[in-house]
Amino acid sequence: MPSQKIFYKHTRAIRWFHWINFPLLAIMIWSGLLIYWANDVYRLGWNDTTLLKFFPDSFNQALDIPFRLAEGMSLHFAFMWLFILNGIAYVLYLIFSKEWKYLLPNKSSFGESWRVILHDLHIRRGLPPQKKYNAAQRIAYSLVIVMGIGSFLTGLAIYKPVQLSWLCNIMGGYAFCRILHFTLTILFCLFFLVHIIQVILAGWNNFAAMIRGFEVKPIEETSSNQTLSETPEENL
Ligand code: HEM
Repeated sequence: MPSQKIFYKHTRAIRWFHWINFPLLAIMIWSGLLIYWANDVYRLGWNDTTLLKFFPDSFNQALDIPFRLAEGMSLHFAFMWLFILNGIAYVLYLIFSKEWKYLLPNKSSFGESWRVILHDLHIRRGLPPQKKYNAAQRIAYSLVIVMGIGSFLTGLAIYKPVQLSWLCNIMGGYAFCRILHFTLTILFCLFFLVHIIQVILAGWNNFAAMIRGFEVKPIEETSSNQTLSETPEENL
């Protein structure tokens, strides 16, 4: 039996922000669907040709979405404050704890992210050396934060388009802000899908670290491409 070591990965704060964000985002998307049903204007297509309608009646019926606009609005406008507060606290934490250094892309991330993607698709062997996150993760996690800020700003603009008309106007007007807000929601769903697939592929140890904070690895694996430390402060 090879001896094992503990490697710290996620601080308690990161884990709390992450797990609070998950149900909050789920409620925001669900209540958003209840609201969108009342005015389902978006589709992918051109002229009279529709490739994809958001969302077909069968989808709405299956999820019992119709006629729940008031419920959707109450949920959306109550939980948005918690979603925003958790997001602001997370970003402030990243800044003051200096964790942003391990999350934001650096100058090699954009080049390296292709190597990570080709590796994940089993087209190329070997991964570039990494610390807490690989280049593709750095880009994806940073983008998802920008998407959160975008949802917040476009949401505020379409929530109070009269009082916050200046915000609505600088972001292209009500109709455009609504399209952006909707598109960001679809992108969150796509991020979630890829994120879950990656978490499943990465395995239990990686997932458990987002719950308990550390990974347990056989000592010989410590020579892998990932540098993690045995002390919480240095791993990041
Ligand atoms: C069932 C749902 C989810 C699971 C199981 C999950 C799992 C994980 C795991 C295991 C990590 C660490 C990855 C690693 O160490 O390589 C992680 C990081 C992260 N996840 Fe999730 N996640 C979920 C939902 C979400 C959602 C809904 C979002 C936001 C849209 C999200 C955003 C992030 C971000 C930004 C990080 C990096 C956190 C940091 O270090 O600051 N996750 N997730």
